[in-house]
Amino acid sequence: MRFSVPKPFHYYALGVTVVGGGYLIKDYLGGDMYKNQDKLTNKVAIVTGANTGIGREVTRNLAKREAKVIMACRDMDKCEIARREIVFESKNKYVYCRKCDLASQESIRAFVDQFKKEHSELHLLINNAGVMRCPKSYTKEGIELQFGVNHIGHFLLTNLLLDVLKDSAPARIINLTSNVHKRGKIKLKDLNNDKDYEPGAAYAQSKLANILFTKELANKLKGTGVTVNAVYPGIVRTDITRHMGIYQYYLGRLLVNSIMWIFIKPPIKGAQTVLFAAIDPSLEDVTGAYLVNNKIKEVTGEAGDDRLAKWLWAVSEKWTKLNYV
Ligand SMILES: NC(=O)c1ccc[n+]([C@@H]2O[C@H](COP(=O)([O-])OP(=O)(O)OC[C@H]3O[C@@H](n4cnc5c(N)ncnc54)[C@H](OP(=O)(O)O)[C@@H]3O)[C@@H](O)[C@H]2O)c1
Repeated sequence: MRFSVPKPFHYYALGVTVVGGGYLIKDYLGGDMYKNQDKLTNKVAIVTGANTGIGREVTRNLAKREAKVIMACRDMDKCEIARREIVFESKNKYVYCRKCDLASQESIRAFVDQFKKEHSELHLLINNAGVMRCPKSYTKEGIELQFGVNHIGHFLLTNLLLDVLKDSAPARIINLTSNVHKRGKIKLKDLNNDKDYEPGAAYAQSKLANILFTKELANKLKGTGVTVNAVYPGIVRTDITRHMGIYQYYLGRLLVNSIMWIFIKPPIKGAQTVLFAAIDPSLEDVTGAYLVNNKIKEVTGEAGDDRLAKWLWAVSEKWTKLNYV
C-alpha cells in the first residue's frame, strides 16, 4: 500500500520553507551583530535623538556595557519613557535625560553648559538625531530644518564639546549619515534651500554635509586622540519616515512595509555599525572614515571633496557664530 502525504501538508511545508527562508535572507541582508562584549564602565557617552529608533538601541547597548549615558533629546516626556525602559533592562542607573533641541542653538548651548557642570569627561559623542523629508520649515535661527538639525545643530554641539573630548582622550565622535549622500549636492548658491525646496534633495544635502563635516573635523583633530567617523546604518524601520506621504496612511505603510520587508532592518540591527564605530579596538586610530556594515567604505564624488569640506566648515562656523565663542 502506497502512503501519500495529504495535499494540505504540501502547502503547509511550502509555506514554512518560504517564510523560514525569507527570515534567513532578511537576517543575512540586515548585516552582522557586533559581537564584542567589552564593558565601558566609567566611560561617559552622549547620544542625540536617543528616545527612539537607532539612538534608543545604541543607548540601550551602551547602558548594558555600564557606560554613563546622557540622552540628549528634545522631548523630555518621550525621553523619560525610553530612559526608564533602558534603566530597567540594563540595571544601570547612570542613564540621564537632558533637554537638547538641535533646532535651537540656544538649547544646544544650554545643554552643553549643563553637561559641563555635571560631567568632567566625555568619551563618546554619538550624533544620531535626524529629521527626514519634512515639509519646508526652519530652526529658531532660520536655517532650513533638515540642514539645521542634521548638520548645523550637530556641528555646533560637537564644537562646543571638543575641549572636554580632547581632555578625555581617547575619545570618539560618530556622525550618522546615509547612503543618500551619494545623490546629495551642496548648493553653494542656495545652501539654505530658500529659493528651491525639495524635501528629498534637502535631506541628501544634509547627509552629505555629515560626511564633509566628518572629514574636515578629522583633519582638525589629528594628534589629539579624538577620532571622528561617519556611519550609514542601512535601511532601518524607525520613525524617520514620519514625514513621507505614503507613510501617513495605514494602507500605504502596509504596502511599503510588505514590499520592502526583506530589506528593512529592525532598529537593533541598525545600531550595530554605530556600536562597532564607537567601541571596536581595531578603529582606535581610524578617523575621517565612512563605515557601512562594520566595514570601512570609500566615498566618492562630492563626499571626497576636501575643498568643499573646508568651505562648508567656514559657512557652518559663521551660521553658528562659533568664531565669536
Ligand atoms: N532609519 C533609516 O533607515 C536611516 C537610514 C540612514 C540614516 N539614518 C540616520 O540615522 C539617524 C537616526 O534615525 P532613526 O532612523 O533612528 O530615526 P528616528 O526614529 O526618527 O529618530 C530620530 C531621533 O532624532 C530626534 N530629533 C529629531 N529632531 C530633533 C531635534 N530638533 N532635536 C533633537 N532631536 C531631534 C527624534 O526626536 P523625536 O522623537 O522627539 O522626534 C528622534 O529621537 C538619523 O540621523 C538618520 O538620518 C537612518
